[in-house]
Formats: sequence, C-alpha cells, structure tokens
Amino acid sequence: MARESESGLPVEPVYGPEALAGWDPARQLGEPGAYPFTRGVYPTMYTQRPWTMRQYAGFGTAAESNARYRQLIEHGTTGLSVAFDLPTQMGHDSDAPLAAGEVGKVGVAVDSIDDMRTLFDGIPLDRVSTSMTINAPAALLLLLYQLVAEEQGVSAGQLTGTVQNDVLKEYIARGTYIFPPAPSLRLTSDLFRYCGAELPKWNTISISGYHMAEAGASPAQEIAFTLADGIQYVRTALAAGMDVDDFAPRLSFFFVARTTLLEEVAKFRAARRMWARVMRDEFGARNPKSQMLRFHTQTAGVQLTAQQPEVNLVRVAVQGLGAVLGGTQSLHTNAFDEALALPTDKSARLALRTQQVLAYETDVTGTVDPFAGSYVVERMTDDVEAAALQLMERVEELGGAVAAIEQGFQKGEIERNAYRIARETEAGERVVVGVNRFASGESEAAERYEPLRVDPALEALQARRLAELRAARDQGAVDSALAALRKAASGEANTLYPMKEALRARATVGEVCGALREVWGAYEPTERF
Ligand code: 3HC
Repeated sequence: MARESESGLPVEPVYGPEALAGWDPARQLGEPGAYPFTRGVYPTMYTQRPWTMRQYAGFGTAAESNARYRQLIEHGTTGLSVAFDLPTQMGHDSDAPLAAGEVGKVGVAVDSIDDMRTLFDGIPLDRVSTSMTINAPAALLLLLYQLVAEEQGVSAGQLTGTVQNDVLKEYIARGTYIFPPAPSLRLTSDLFRYCGAELPKWNTISISGYHMAEAGASPAQEIAFTLADGIQYVRTALAAGMDVDDFAPRLSFFFVARTTLLEEVAKFRAARRMWARVMRDEFGARNPKSQMLRFHTQTAGVQLTAQQPEVNLVRVAVQGLGAVLGGTQSLHTNAFDEALALPTDKSARLALRTQQVLAYETDVTGTVDPFAGSYVVERMTDDVEAAALQLMERVEELGGAVAAIEQGFQKGEIERNAYRIARETEAGERVVVGVNRFASGESEAAERYEPLRVDPALEALQARRLAELRAARDQGAVDSALAALRKAASGEANTLYPMKEALRARATVGEVCGALREVWGAYEPTERF
C-alpha cells in the first residue's frame, strides 16, 4: 500500500528502473550550473564554498540587535538577516497608538536613520551581505541601509543583500501589507528599477513560499503559489517598461525545509527547473542568471515543539540537511527553543553550529546534487513538478496571482491542507514525537528555558528618542521632502528618489509610509467565509 507524500503524491515502498522509464537525463537533468538548473545554480555548488549561513535575528532596540549580529559574526555566520518588529513592518513609528505592545517584540524597532545607524554600528557594510525581512516598506529600509552605508563611506554599488519585498504573499499569509495590490506592485517595480540603476549587486526581492508553508501549504502548493507570485512580479516589471534581463538576475526566492527530506529535495529541484523554463520560454530571458532560481531556506518553524524542546535540535538538523541536499544558496536554521521564546545567545549559537556541522563534518558538500539519478528523488522531482504545474495552471485560469488572491484561491487551498494536517495530527496518524507519541508528560518546557524577554520600557525609550529626533531635525526640509514624495506617488516618477531625501532629512518610517497612505490608501482584505 503506497504511502502519501506531503504533497499527497504516492510514495512506493520500493523504487526501481521502472520509476524512471522514459526519463531523459539530458533533457530533464542537465548539468549543474546550466539550464534548466535541476542539479543546482552553480557548476561547483558547495565544493568550493558552503552556502551562506544567514541566521534571522533582531529584537528590542537597534543596540541590542547590533550586539546579537556582532555575536553571530564572531560565531562564524557568513550573512546577516534582520528581523524587524511589527510596527516597522507595518509602517508605523514606535510611538504610534497601533504600535503599543509590539515595539521590539518580534524584531528590532527601526523608526529612522538613527536606528539604522545604530543597528549596523561597527559592522562594515562593504564586507557583509544583509537580508532584511521587510515587505510593504521594503524601499524605506533599503534606502536607510544605503544612507548609513554612505555615512560609512561605502558606495551603493558595493552593497550586497536582499529585501524580501514580497507583498503578494503577505495578502495570502503573514499579513504585513500596507497598501492595496496595485500601488504595492508599483512600489515593487520602482524598487526594481532603482536597484538596477543604483545598487546592481542588491537582490531586489525574496519571493517567499516559507510563510505559506508555515500556514499549511504542501510542498507542491508552496512552489506553485510562490512561482505564480514570481510570474506576477515579472509581468509587473515588464509592464513598467523594463527588459527581463535587466531585473530578473536579481530576483531571489525563499522556501521552507521540512523534515520530509526526500520530498523537500525533490521540491527544490523541481522549482529550479520550473522557473528556468518559465523565464526562458514565457518571458524570453536570455541571460542564464535570469533563469536561475537562487533561494534562501529556513527550517520549518511550525514543526518545532514546546514539549521536549531539545528534540527540535534533531528536527532542525534533518531539515537543514534537506535544504543543503536540495541546493540552497543561503540557510537559516531555527533555534531549538523558538517554540518557547526568542532564541537565547546559546541556542542561537547552537542553531548556527548545526549548519557548521553540515558544512564541515559531513561529506554532502564534496559533490554536487548527490541525489541525481536516484530512482525515488528523480521520480519525486517529476511528480512534485507535475502537481505544482497543475496548481499554477489553475492560478492562470483565475487571472494570475493577484486575481487568484482576490478570489481567495491560494488562501483556501492552504487552509484546506492545514486542516488536513491538523486532523491527522489530532488522530495520531501524523506523529509528532514528544507530543502525540513518545510524550514524556512532565511540563519541563516552562521551567528549564528562561525565555529572552523584551524590556517593556523599550517603548518609552523609542518614543523619547522619536521626540528628540523630531525636535532636532529641519522640519521644513522634512515637509518639502514628504511633499515631493506625495507628488511622485501620485504620478509616474520613481518614488525611491524623493523617499531617500525624506529619510536623509530624518523623516521617520511612520511619516514616509503615512505620506504614501495618503496617496495610495490602505489595503482592506476582502475576506470570504
Ligand atoms: N560558484 C560561483 N559563484 C558562487 C558560488 C559558486 N558555488 N557560490 C556563491 N557564488 C557567488 C554568487 O554568484 C554571488 O555573487 P553575485 O551576487 O555577484 O552573483 C555571491 O557568491 C553570493 O552567493 P549567493 O548569491 O548564492 O548567496 P547570498 O547569500 O549572497 O544570496 C540569495 C542568497 C538567496 C540569492 C539572497 O537573496 C539571500 O541571501 N536571501 C536571504 C533571504 C533571507 O534571509 N530571508 C529571511 C526570511 S525570515 C522571514 O521571512 C521571517 C520569518 O517569518 C521566517
């Protein structure tokens, strides 16, 4: 009796030559670093250098997060990854009524250029690659980063990193949107064009499947809906008059890694092949870099348990191995105590050490795409690809990603899958070690791990610093810069140039987003029940 995979596909107890009957390695596999990139985006992958070890971090004030980044650099991290608090992500200042209780909680509070300067104090921005998980106000945080780099004497052309900048998935899952889809997509393409001109080494977007997966999407749904979002972004940039090879090389992606390792490896390999075909055949991209699906992976937070939390170390190691065997370019491994609280210094170090064991104590970096030719993984790669293509066709029939979002299609599909997972877990058909099987009973979690608390006085401190900033700045310069921004937002001009001048004049994140809200309005979800 065949079991079912996470994508609902049959998994045979034994695979043999018949699994690959008619399979043409030359057409479907190709070489590493060459179209269709099934085996990986680079010819040598990890044989010369491992993936970027990029731990997502940020909490409290910019100074506290700066200390964590310095620690991570000292522990050997090779890329930075900024977590912002919800007020920043939603375009509100720390002293806004809506920010109450959230300042510095799920990430660092950044209200102005002053906070961004503190966040990277002592960190040379020409020597690090920084990812920023920021979506609706991605342009603002990118510009603040560039302004701080300028103060360090680092030119924009030297900056490497990524802004997530993927608002479409915020409408589907996660929810940190500000503006309606149309102006959001306009701002996205403004950022593409700005980076093409000013920051050629910056990755302009991280088209994300992670959050949809965390909301319950299966592997096939995760890559189908993510690539469909990618197609929408490409169409938007083309409609804005850009040439595909001018912006596509700097698109990037972000996926989850579950403990179901074989299917995850197949998922990553299928996604690369699918994107390469879309970019070459649908959009006529000629530059191989336009056809390469480069991605970051985070291990699945939703699989972490509060019960027997040390078991999460094993889950994260298996998930991380799957990401590496699947050819990720950048990886975040979750800390084992994240189901309980923010990672401590020790658990954050252990999460990074997990990657270092994979990179330096195993042999999986010695050869490229080790599963190539495997009966089960090549079969699964084909099967996941076929299932994902069907879902992408469905999205197309509905009018593309935005239209499908407005009809609630992706959200509905994901919620149905989430319900199936919950039901199977409830029934014990889906084993969660330590929870519905091999449970220990004692409530050790709460006592043993002192969660890292965010200081409630932080809110008052940020509010005081905002008041000082507003009192000290040239208000006339701020007002005229914001007026110029409103004008650009009402017309066709690229909004990032006036936005940069407003931020340079020490306008706050809330004020800049407020100016854009005045012109573009705020998104109201069209919930369907
Ligand atoms: N051969 C040749 N060149 C190689 C190579 C190899 N084997 N390995 C690396 N390189 C080169 C690359 O070409 C690149 O140079 P280029 O930029 O000039 O092309 C350089 O070395 C860096 O390599 P990568 O670009 O592969 O690696 P990066 O780490 O710099 O970039 C990325 C990876 C996926 C493209 C990038 O977009 C990235 O870093 N994304 C990270 C996204 C992220 O961290 N998100 C966090 C989300 S957390 C979240 O959402 C919140 C919570 O809810 C989960």
